Amino acid sequence: MKFFVDTANLEQIKEAHNLGILDGVTTNPSLMAKEGIKGQEAVIEHYKKICDIVDGDVSAEVISTDFEGIVKEGEALAALHPNIVVKVPMIKEGIKAIKHFSNKGIRTNCTLVFSAGQAILAAKAGATYLSPFIGRVDDISWDGVDLIDQIVHIYATYGFKTEVLAASIRNPLHIIKCAEVGADVVTAPLSAITALLKHPLTDIGLAKFLADAKKFA
Ligand code: G3P
Repeated sequence: MKFFVDTANLEQIKEAHNLGILDGVTTNPSLMAKEGIKGQEAVIEHYKKICDIVDGDVSAEVISTDFEGIVKEGEALAALHPNIVVKVPMIKEGIKAIKHFSNKGIRTNCTLVFSAGQAILAAKAGATYLSPFIGRVDDISWDGVDLIDQIVHIYATYGFKTEVLAASIRNPLHIIKCAEVGADVVTAPLSAITALLKHPLTDIGLAKFLADAKKFA
């Protein structure tokens, strides 16, 4: 399972990269706004900085919602760096644009996915990645991991190449559950990734080993 970090914060991206297990980065307009980035030029510069830190796929989201706009924006983003993946919303114009990008060899991440039906459409259009938002599904008392399980099963049944990228991950258990059901990728906040490190028995065990080591140091 690939690990992406879901942030536009350069320090957190560096920290995740320094762990040595990072495969890529996902961003969205909310995450970019959180970093105080303003204007198209600043957005472009920010994506370049992310690509300089991480040697892996970097999802850059379009904000247009019409076919021509999505294509124009997506082609400009894709031209920035070979690792840029154009993130396109799951809407009718988005599906048309994903098909267009797929024909041109431009990689895409279909975002804001909440159902298996949407997942089938995105795969048929040739999306590289599919981003079901599991935390937001949980927020409305459905089961986000069940959705990942369902989509993984459908894609395996038909041999769809689209990779299931579990997004809107809120905690370490989400990551483990996504691994159990066979998600290809998880994108998570750095806090959820580093929380996987923690176990009280590790801390207790290490403290004992270090105390015993002093006896023969
Ligand atoms: O990857 C999508 C993610 O950023 C959305 O997360 O927590 O806003 O639902 P959240």
